[in-house]
Amino acid sequence: MFIGELQRYVTRLQNPNNVSFLIQKVCPMSLANISVHQVVKNYHKDRIEIPVLNGLDLTIPAGQFSVLMGPSGSGKSTLLHLIGGLDRPTSGTIQVGDFNLDRMSDSELTRWRSRHVGFIFQMYHLIPVLTAAENVELPLLLFSMSSHERKQRVATALQVVGLTDRMDHRPNQLSGGQEQRVAIARAIVTDPDVILADEPTGDLDAKTSEEILNLLNILNKEFGKTILLVTHDPRAAAHGQRILHLDKGILSQEKEAVCVT
Ligand SMILES: Nc1ncnc2c1ncn2[C@@H]1O[C@H](COP(=O)(O)OP(=O)(O)OP(=O)(O)O)[C@@H](O)[C@H]1O
Ligand SMILES: [Mg+2]
Repeated sequence: MFIGELQRYVTRLQNPNNVSFLIQKVCPMSLANISVHQVVKNYHKDRIEIPVLNGLDLTIPAGQFSVLMGPSGSGKSTLLHLIGGLDRPTSGTIQVGDFNLDRMSDSELTRWRSRHVGFIFQMYHLIPVLTAAENVELPLLLFSMSSHERKQRVATALQVVGLTDRMDHRPNQLSGGQEQRVAIARAIVTDPDVILADEPTGDLDAKTSEEILNLLNILNKEFGKTILLVTHDPRAAAHGQRILHLDKGILSQEKEAVCVT
C-alpha cells in the first residue's frame, strides 16, 4: 500500500513538504482500466422517465487523467456516480479494473467502492464537528485496522496534501482550499485505484484551484491514480491528458488536452 510505504519515508524526511521526492521513491502504480459499455441511465420522477445516458461507451486506460466536460444536466455527475458504484445503470455494463460492477450485490459494491474509489466533490462534505484528522480517518473505520495504523495513514495522507499543521482544525477553521485538501486526503487515505472528482475547484479562486489541480496531477503522475475530473472550467480541463465532452447524454466529442505550461 502506497500510504504505508510513504509513511516510512515521511519519518525520515528532512523537508516535510517535499512530497514529490517521497513519491518518486516509493510509488507502486495502481492499475484500473475503466470500461463503460452501452450504458443507459434513465431516472424516474413522478412516473415520468428522464433519459440521461443513451448507450454510452467509454474506455479510460489505467493511469490516465481524463476530463469530462459538457453543459449542465448532460449527465456528467450521473456518469461519475455510475463508474464509482454510487448508482447503477438502467442497462449496460461497467468494469473497473478486475471488477464488473453490475455483477456485484449492493453490499459487494459498497465494499468495492470503499477500497477502490476516492470521491472528491465540489462541496467537500466534511463533517463540521470533526477535526481534519478525524474526517480523513472516517473511511478507514470500514477496514479492519489497528488504531495505530489508522493514525499513521491519516498523518501521511494529510502530509501528502500539505496540511500536517492543520490536522486538529475543524472545517470552519479552514479555508475553502484547505477544506478541499482535507477532502482529497480523505479520498486517498484508503489508497484507491480510481479518483473521481466532480467539479472539485468549482468553489475556489483561480490560484487555489491551480493548487488543487496540481495535487491531482501529482496523484496521477506519481501515484499512478486513474483520474476522471468533471469540470466546466477550460483551464482546469487543460490539466487532463484527454478531454471528453458529454452532451444530451451522449459522449459526442473527444480530443487531446492542450498541454499546460
Ligand atoms: N436522482 C435523480 N432523479 C431524477 N432525475 C435526476 C436525478 N439525478 C439527476 N437527474 C437528472 O439527470 C440529468 C443529468 O443530471 P447530472 O447531475 O448528471 O448533470 P450534470 O451534467 O452533472 O450537470 P451539472 O453540470 O449541472 O452538474 C438532469 O436532467 C437531472 O435533472
Ligand atoms: Mg454535476
